Amino acid sequence: MALPDFLATLEKLLTAAEDAFAAAGDAPTVEAARIEFLGAKSGRLKEAQKGLGTVDKADKPAAGKRFNEVKEAIDIAFQAAQDRLEQSKQTGGGAQATGPLFDTTLPGRPLRLGHLHPITQTIEHLKEIMGRLGFSAAGGPEIEDEWHNFQALNIPPAHPARDPLENFYLSTAGVTAKQPGTGAAPLLLRSQTSTVQIRVMEKTPPPVRIISLGRVYRPDTADATHYPMFHQIEGLLIDRHVTMADLKSVLRLFARSYFGGDVHIRFRPSFFPFTEPSVEVDMSWNDSWIEMGGAGMVDPHVLQAVGYDPEEVSGFAFGLGVERVCARRHNVTDIREFYKNDVRFLEQF
Ligand code: DAH
Repeated sequence: MALPDFLATLEKLLTAAEDAFAAAGDAPTVEAARIEFLGAKSGRLKEAQKGLGTVDKADKPAAGKRFNEVKEAIDIAFQAAQDRLEQSKQTGGGAQATGPLFDTTLPGRPLRLGHLHPITQTIEHLKEIMGRLGFSAAGGPEIEDEWHNFQALNIPPAHPARDPLENFYLSTAGVTAKQPGTGAAPLLLRSQTSTVQIRVMEKTPPPVRIISLGRVYRPDTADATHYPMFHQIEGLLIDRHVTMADLKSVLRLFARSYFGGDVHIRFRPSFFPFTEPSVEVDMSWNDSWIEMGGAGMVDPHVLQAVGYDPEEVSGFAFGLGVERVCARRHNVTDIREFYKNDVRFLEQF
């Protein structure tokens, strides 16, 4: 055989072998290709080797050299096919996986998006409901003076609600009195959002129709229904001829919007220094009554403290616990869950 013919046969053989091994996607196909090209008895390489004997003597070294190169290249192609199969087995890829290890066409893993905290969601929801009833949102500071937290709300200096064991007083060295009647002006973390009633009425002439939602602080031991920091929703409506019936209507509308149509409310006589008469507000759901907070008709002393004329205007106020209404609606039995920051709890809202 002439050298060029022999070399051409080798090239064809090499191309065919490399194609066959590259395309082989499973063990039986690789094995079939091995037998076809590298088979010891009648493989195509063996056949080509026979041709080597027929090449002219002078061309033998060149022909032999190329033959060895081709044999080595086919061995490498075979080895590569085997390695590939082994890898796809380890990465769990199917027998068909012939591509690179990292499949860039796979869809990505979805990113986990966070969401608002359940209490924040509740605050937004309550604002929305009360907004529909014509109440706008007002705010005030969490660090308060005694005037707004107590005095203007008809809680005199000797009142037990001012007890240091019931409040978080702050060190106030160097602070001077800004409000009338507050003496040395201790500051404290506000214990109720009723403070905002005073702040709004001091600045705004009647009529007033506001809600205020925010944090309040009390040195309570944390248990299933108490936490040293919690949230209240405060409502205040001041106008001419406001009655207790208006208060009850607003609270009933509020409860039905938030919990659903089958909720009832009831008032129990109570006492708060800043309302007269005062009531505890209970809401029923599935045959049990839950205490949600307090309410009443704004005491004339409070109206006087902010410069309103109690002969001209009257009003109602209420203060409910945000954690309580949220827990009730979502069947949460322990309000401490809201502040553990356990994602397994939070992601359910
Ligand atoms: N401030 C009261 C508390 O924290 C709740 C409250 C009761 C608010 C009656 C009111 C009210 O506005 O009229 O316990």
